[in-house]
Amino acid sequence: MGLKASSSLLCLAILLGVSSLASSVNITRALENYPEFSTMIELLAKTELTPIINKRQTITVLALSNDAIGSISGRPEEELKNILMNHVVLDYYDELKLKALKDKSTLLTTLYQSTGLGQQQNGFLNCSKANGKIVFGSAVKGAPLTAEYITTVFRNPFNLSVVQISMPIVAPGLGAPVKVPPPPPMTSPPAPSPKKAGATPAPGPAEEEDYADAPPGAAPETAPASAPSEDGSPAPAPENAGKKKMAAADEVEPPSSASNTGLSFGAVLVLGVVASFAGF
Ligand SMILES: *[C@@H]1O[C@H](CO)[C@@H](O)[C@H](O)[C@H]1NC(C)=O
Ligand SMILES: *[C@@H]1O[C@H](CO)[C@@H](O)[C@H](O)[C@H]1NC(C)=O
Ligand SMILES: *[C@@H]1O[C@H](CO)[C@@H](O)[C@H](O)[C@H]1NC(C)=O
Repeated sequence: MGLKASSSLLCLAILLGVSSLASSVNITRALENYPEFSTMIELLAKTELTPIINKRQTITVLALSNDAIGSISGRPEEELKNILMNHVVLDYYDELKLKALKDKSTLLTTLYQSTGLGQQQNGFLNCSKANGKIVFGSAVKGAPLTAEYITTVFRNPFNLSVVQISMPIVAPGLGAPVKVPPPPPMTSPPAPSPKKAGATPAPGPAEEEDYADAPPGAAPETAPASAPSEDGSPAPAPENAGKKKMAAADEVEPPSSASNTGLSFGAVLVLGVVASFAGF
């Protein structure tokens, strides 16, 4: 009896431990094994956003690497806080969900919107599919969609997802815009490549062009004949780069069972507790 009681208590203690571990959103813990996001974690703490994020139950953080966040890390604290709040999406989006989005563009609500300070949609983000890529920008009309989806760093469906993007999103009204960095040689640039410089830098036409450029057999959804740089150069290189990147992202996609393990472990423990109580 004494033994049974104590083993029941032990089970209960473990169960509680497991469930609180599996349940809580903790952005610091989610990224603690990723030193390339240490600056973002520091800045979230400095601007006192960490506890606000951790209180949420369903959240996606658009994460910036130490390099990428350099362009905003020195801004005044209040400005920085507003900008960072625009990188916290009040919904769950991981790679699977982003790729499954049917609409060409989706409006995402951010933490900044929840402050009530949002103006002209600057508390929202526009997530669009362009050039075979997923891009983010402020939802303010005319704002550039220059932050590219890179990978899903952490996912705990459907509570916390951390998605890496290529550069900060600074909505109009929240600070000076960040310049799009020049495209690195082998990875996909966030903007249409210089090769297609004949076209406008706006993402719209480039998107159509990508569909038009789709390889035969890929069954393009739309193939507008009006793609601006079609006549110039077919330029398959950037598209291939985009494809490679998506393929790479597919490869690193973690299995969705991570958090299920916690759940089923918990369920087994519940059974154990019930069973040992039933044994009295
Ligand atoms: C995870 O999110 C769901 C809703 O999406 C919520 O019902 C659940 O309570 C959350 N889990 C925790 C432990 O916060
Ligand atoms: C979140 O995780 C960090 C690192 O593991 C830990 O130091 C911190 O206490 C956790 N915060 C909460 C609220 O559990
Ligand atoms: C997102 O941006 C694109 C390109 O600027 C635009 O065509 C689209 O209407 C926007 N979507 C939303 C939901 O605002």
